[in-house]
Amino acid sequence: MTLDRNSKCWCGSGLKYKKCHLNFDEKLESLELQGYEVPSRDIIKNNEDIEGIKKSAEINNGVLDLVAENIKEGMSTAEIDKLVYEYTVSHGAIPAPLNYEGFPKSVCVSINDVVCHGIPSEDRILKSGDIVNVDVSTILNGYYSDASRMFMIGDVSEEAKKLVEVTKECLEKGIEAVKPWGFLGDIGAAIQEHAESHGYSVVRDFGGHGVGLQFHEDPFVYHYGERGQGMILAPGMVFTIEPMINAGRYEILIDADDDWTAYTKDGSLSAQWEHMLLVTEEGVEIIAK
Ligand code: MF3
Ligand code: CO
Repeated sequence: MTLDRNSKCWCGSGLKYKKCHLNFDEKLESLELQGYEVPSRDIIKNNEDIEGIKKSAEINNGVLDLVAENIKEGMSTAEIDKLVYEYTVSHGAIPAPLNYEGFPKSVCVSINDVVCHGIPSEDRILKSGDIVNVDVSTILNGYYSDASRMFMIGDVSEEAKKLVEVTKECLEKGIEAVKPWGFLGDIGAAIQEHAESHGYSVVRDFGGHGVGLQFHEDPFVYHYGERGQGMILAPGMVFTIEPMINAGRYEILIDADDDWTAYTKDGSLSAQWEHMLLVTEEGVEIIAK
């Protein structure tokens, strides 16, 4: 079924189809006929969605800036949670992790051998030498944003610093691989290549994800893989890239008591950086970081 050229576009922009997503659809249909995996319409954001997601991301960025200013040795991870919660609600937003599938706090704080989904606690005090990921996600007017950064507390070993730096480079190389009408697999390939060239490994069990109207949407963004494979990246897609890189092997374990905290199975250090991106006609825009 094809939409009449003069009907309103399916994206909800209110524009005529011929002035909006007609060319886009023709391009995707032709790629699909050639056997490529293409995004479905429900993950293509219109301008109104993008505006809403950007406003949510402004708050998310503000939360991470606040954490950056305040994080220090001697502080408990529960204090980070409190900072996140108070800033978020005082800006009219909601911390997305809070009660998400039973997650009990407003932010994930993952230290040293914790890969992701660390639960803030009064009992975990930041100490010199810790490498800490703070993963912040925000809902504003129904729009979701998501980003995470690493922080190094006090005197950090050269080994840990190197892991944090290379993981940041992995994210940057992943972002550089994002091209409109390119492939999702290009992202994972770039990340995996860089991580493994330093003797590190890429966590398999978690990936980036579409985001915006929900916390986790399609596609699953692999941080490993092959160029020229996977879904076509089309303008209007919003997703995260958030590589978790282990100094040792990539296998993980989930804490049996809390069912959330993911550790490296071999006890090695793990780092993660996450940005949220918009694919545009021209390239890629970083929305949350
Ligand atoms: N912020 C995480 C992500 O990057 C998701 C955390 S789920 C939670 O996708 F419930 F633990 F918050
Ligand atoms: Co995410």
